Amino acid sequence: MIELRQLTPYDGRDVYDMLQTMPRDENGLINNVCGMSFDEYKSWLIKKQAESEQTGLVDGWKVPSTTYWLCVDGAPVGFGNVRRFLTEALRKTGGNIGYGIAPAQRGKGYGKLLLKLLLQKAREVGIEKALLTIRADNLPSLAVALANGGVVTEKTDERVWIWIDTKNAAD
Ligand SMILES: CC(C)(COP(=O)(O)OP(=O)(O)OC[C@H]1O[C@@H](n2cnc3c(N)ncnc32)[C@H](O)[C@@H]1OP(=O)(O)O)[C@@H](O)C(=O)NCCC(=O)NCCS
Repeated sequence: MIELRQLTPYDGRDVYDMLQTMPRDENGLINNVCGMSFDEYKSWLIKKQAESEQTGLVDGWKVPSTTYWLCVDGAPVGFGNVRRFLTEALRKTGGNIGYGIAPAQRGKGYGKLLLKLLLQKAREVGIEKALLTIRADNLPSLAVALANGGVVTEKTDERVWIWIDTKNAAD
């Protein structure tokens, strides 16, 4: 069974262990838990949940974002973030949605499924069109975005801007 689980302060060792197998920064996807102690991770979960419940900017600059774990048969294999709205900075880099699959689990279709489920979450919070900004050399991520109905609206040597109508992710 494959499902998306929203981050909670009660998340445990399985999520922590999975995040230790993912780099701290991979193609701009930040995994702050990489290298944290288990106690630091537990405090981080509390902070992340509180931030995701805010409606305005967090600390005056961060857009509230909600983190989800992709779970296969109960075991976490990746994570994604949905940012509720865009700032000028996020329009350039970051967009509405970020996602990653643990290295040992890649190439099994989980990335495409994870983005589809995140698009459904984005739609639930009122995002009709979601922006993804992807490094031009990140071919797996581009494949995942295009497979989910992504439309390229701008491209430079470094980066590609892709918008996805979240209706595309409806079941
Ligand atoms: C991007 C990422 C989530 C994809 O996860 P995944 O589980 O491997 O994705 P899937 O198996 O669903 O699909 C991967 C697609 O990339 C394609 N792909 C993989 N490596 C590729 C390469 N070197 N060149 C071209 N396409 C490639 C696969 O063929 C597949 O597409 P297809 O089914 O049309 O053939 C994963 O690579 C990842 O976590 N990367 C690091 C974090 C990251 O870059 N996140 C995105 C930030 S914008």
